[in-house]
Amino acid sequence: MIADPIDMAVARATLPGIGSAIFKEKHAMRPSWKLPAVVAHRCGGALAPENTLAGLEIAAALGVRGVEFDVQLSADGEPVVIHDDTLARTGGLNHRVDGLTRDRLIACDVGARHHRAFAGECLPDLARIAEACRRLGLVANVEIKCDDREGERVGAAVARACMRLWHGDPSPPLLSSFSTEALAAARAEAPDLARALLVEGVPRDWRPRTEALGCVALHCRAADLDDADVADVRASGLRIAAYTENDPARAAHWFAIGVDALFTDRPDRLMACLPAGAGHLP
Ligand code: G3P
Ligand code: MG
Repeated sequence: MIADPIDMAVARATLPGIGSAIFKEKHAMRPSWKLPAVVAHRCGGALAPENTLAGLEIAAALGVRGVEFDVQLSADGEPVVIHDDTLARTGGLNHRVDGLTRDRLIACDVGARHHRAFAGECLPDLARIAEACRRLGLVANVEIKCDDREGERVGAAVARACMRLWHGDPSPPLLSSFSTEALAAARAEAPDLARALLVEGVPRDWRPRTEALGCVALHCRAADLDDADVADVRASGLRIAAYTENDPARAAHWFAIGVDALFTDRPDRLMACLPAGAGHLP
């Protein structure tokens, strides 16, 4: 495992002498951050039906290298890619995701309600999405969707699936969740996969929470974020990403002050405002 260079830089800059040695030891085994700066939200952002293979294809065609998607468990415990806990909005069906088996879920058309051009685009399971990410060279942020009551079971199952599906890949997925329980279970199951804590506004206890979970990053809602938050998080050695930013001028500002990645529904627009010379891969 390679220690994240940002950790070493912070250790050198802020903790000379014995403090530096302790900092290095504490952070040396963190999995590293590999998420590119522009990340298509829900696979392809607004350009495709959310959380679909079609979205991944469009993101890749635009030159986007990072994708985020939401994962839940079906009734038979299989990881499937969908945001809401029901099929109503994206599939037009009055069923809960955890009430149907994987085979029933992956037969559901989630394309037609986005646009008739996508009719027949079905809800994917994680295996199909992982295969497409690897084939298309996309770095994935797997968001584990669950509440804390189900966090242990869902976090462990999704982490286990990711370890299997990305086995041997030089760019394994980053796991994130609003659920502390899910991240703790993911850490126990797959300690080598990097983790990020998802929050809305930056909470007062972000340091102990990310530290306790061994996170490499904090993912914050852009609408609640300010420049001082970004500086604080960066100074701690954590990476920081923000969702959902669709405005190129705002995006350019976030990048300029050190935000590491932006989740966007308009990856086509944000690809044009990457900082000069920063490149697209971390
Ligand atoms: O992971 C960032 C973002 O996707 C979190 O919000 O509701 O779009 O999953 P949501
Ligand atoms: Mg999400």
